[in-house]
Amino acid sequence: MKTEKIKELIGQMTLEEKASICSGADFWHTQAIERLKIPATMVTDGPHGLRKQATQGDHLGINDSIEAVCFPAGCGTAASFNRDLLEVMGETLGNECQAEGVSVILGPAVNIKRSPLCGRNFEYLSEDPVVATEMAGSLIKGIQSKNVGTSIKHFLANNQETRRMSSSSEVDERTLREIYLAAFEGAIVKQKPWTVMCSYNKINGVYAAENDTYLTEVLRKEWGFDGYVMSDWGAVNDRVPDLKAGLELEMPSSNGINDKLIIEAVKNGTLEESVVDTAVARILNIVYRFEENRDESAVFNRDKDHDLARKIAHETIVLLKNDNILPLKVTDKIAFIGEFASKPRYQGGGSSHINSHKVTSALDEVAGMTNIIYAKGYRADKDEIDEILINEAVEAAKQSKVAVIFAGLPDSFESEGYDREHMRMPDCQNELIERVVAVQPNTVIVLHNGSPIEMPWVNKVKGILEAYLGGQAVGGAVVDILFGKVNPSAKLPETFPIKLEDNPSYLYYPGEADKVEYKEGIFVGYRYYDKKKMNVLFPFGYGLSYTTFEYSNLKLSKEFMKDTDTVTVSVDIKNTGNRAGKEIVQLYVADKISAVIRPIKELKDFVKVDLQPEETQTVTFELGKRAFAYFNTTIHDWHVESGEFDILIGKSSRAIELSKTITIESTVKLPFTYTRDTIFEDIFKNETARKIVEPLMNMGIFDSINEEDSDAATATISAKMMEAMLKYMPLRGILSFGSGKTVEEFDQIIERLNKEVSNN
Ligand code: BGC
Repeated sequence: MKTEKIKELIGQMTLEEKASICSGADFWHTQAIERLKIPATMVTDGPHGLRKQATQGDHLGINDSIEAVCFPAGCGTAASFNRDLLEVMGETLGNECQAEGVSVILGPAVNIKRSPLCGRNFEYLSEDPVVATEMAGSLIKGIQSKNVGTSIKHFLANNQETRRMSSSSEVDERTLREIYLAAFEGAIVKQKPWTVMCSYNKINGVYAAENDTYLTEVLRKEWGFDGYVMSDWGAVNDRVPDLKAGLELEMPSSNGINDKLIIEAVKNGTLEESVVDTAVARILNIVYRFEENRDESAVFNRDKDHDLARKIAHETIVLLKNDNILPLKVTDKIAFIGEFASKPRYQGGGSSHINSHKVTSALDEVAGMTNIIYAKGYRADKDEIDEILINEAVEAAKQSKVAVIFAGLPDSFESEGYDREHMRMPDCQNELIERVVAVQPNTVIVLHNGSPIEMPWVNKVKGILEAYLGGQAVGGAVVDILFGKVNPSAKLPETFPIKLEDNPSYLYYPGEADKVEYKEGIFVGYRYYDKKKMNVLFPFGYGLSYTTFEYSNLKLSKEFMKDTDTVTVSVDIKNTGNRAGKEIVQLYVADKISAVIRPIKELKDFVKVDLQPEETQTVTFELGKRAFAYFNTTIHDWHVESGEFDILIGKSSRAIELSKTITIESTVKLPFTYTRDTIFEDIFKNETARKIVEPLMNMGIFDSINEEDSDAATATISAKMMEAMLKYMPLRGILSFGSGKTVEEFDQIIERLNKEVSNN
């Protein structure tokens, strides 16, 4: 609807009606105003399928929802690194929403995986903001192409479930910008989600729901967001300040209590009515964007979408280890072991829980294969070692050529609402694996989990498939990969540390009482493990294939550029094996010398290529300022330091195949104020400053620097010492060490420096 028309509608509304639009009519609907023919629209979870509740609503996944299709969860879809695939998944979800009359699907969920313990990691995408924002952006693009809205969530710094509704995430500005905001930024700026969902937590002491800095200054003014912000379910703290800060829609509703506060505030002059009008306009704009673009022909074809879920799952399964065991031979006698073979864990608990219209297990998929036997091995509902089940499994493994153990995390180990207590799998499953590998060296593990786990048996098994929470069709997809019908092509969007204690957030997670300090700063995931040169179980960006790829011919379109310019990077990728396969090519940037503390390297782009045997393709990347920048907290902006940067092309964060160097010249001069405390090293960086200060140094203590010392050994030490002494000495040293200047003269020098050098 045109802005003018919406304005006209608002002009006809009473203050009470306007206030009522600012909160939900019920759990899932916006408020209708029949008198003005304003319809109610429905929103529904999200993110990897429709949790549309026809009758009684809840935000915890308790009550029934309609039968729908459960696609792989975020942990898996991110592992695909396939933007096109996520777009197709988005188009399908968008179509399902059209068919079901859902105006906004509540997702994607992009919060950074700070700790493997976060109970909701299965819904989230990555430890890296580029992966998170790019994959989320593709999903948004697909969904919104069907004229259905998305709600990118949970904005902001909501990286744990512990005390999620009251905890304050204490994060410094640079870390927020480079990691936590960046996960949202690209998707919001490029794909313009119709809505954003604010999180429950506080950010540096202020609730996300009433955080003007992020809801208005960053989201709207900097990033140009033009939809509406809705609260997470129950995230509103104080309705009037929340509204002023930029929270338009309260969900689910406060049964009119908060609407009354809005009305009172307008009446007593503490809230301008125009703020309410703006909020209503933003909400109605989205309401009508959906209403006026209904696709009456849309059909929710569950079987067709199930097939797509399987196709997507193919690309979300990461081959972590393969000692010449996979793909399996269809004729071999194989034991499928573990309850997850018959009942896969394919989704997580909580608000994203889908009522799947059908689920295919790996066992269902191999039902016709008489050479496959099954043993349960453990019970998923309790962590108790069951000798009978283990013995049966050991017997089955002994009788077979290969054992495939389906293991991972049961529902009780990870869910929305609470965090994991440790990074281990259930003891009963670890014990089962140990006992099976003792009798069967040809053992493959298939994992169903939403977040990294410790693998004490990693060196004892021959193959590992990380199937994540792969959606309702995961069983078929796993079987396709086990037998080589499909070549695995996913890579890890997160690091698997060897043990929980290795994780950078370990010391501070989940905080003390209602405060969690993000003291590891920007060193999240591989940014930390790389810097510390730590061994990890499996690195970020890692994943194997049944074929091999060769990287060559890295080219940069230029070797020198200004930070306002862009460079094109190209590289050839060849499939050198004998079967078709897809490869995820990763581009990292490393600042060679930096005055600020930076990671060794950071992912800046990636691309997935599909190659036939012997086929070569050239892939290209375009890098601009942002790829080389860090967030400078003096200018509150992205900044590139002049100097050399390595452009690294890798198969994973720990397998860099090619690199080339580019020199970049900054066009931005950082402001610098000379004070009595400015040290000589910083002064000498600038020629003009040097010229002003140097004459003052030919006296007193500084003269001794040039003195000869007869003993050569002492001479070196003393020269070095004197150099350091001078380098780190503040300007005020001039006064202390006898330059003969008065305090007034000294202050005049500082004034001159600030005048002449900054004008330089
Ligand atoms: C979750 C959201 C979800 C909402 C509605 C909340 O508890 O945090 O992700 O969209 O409920 O179910």
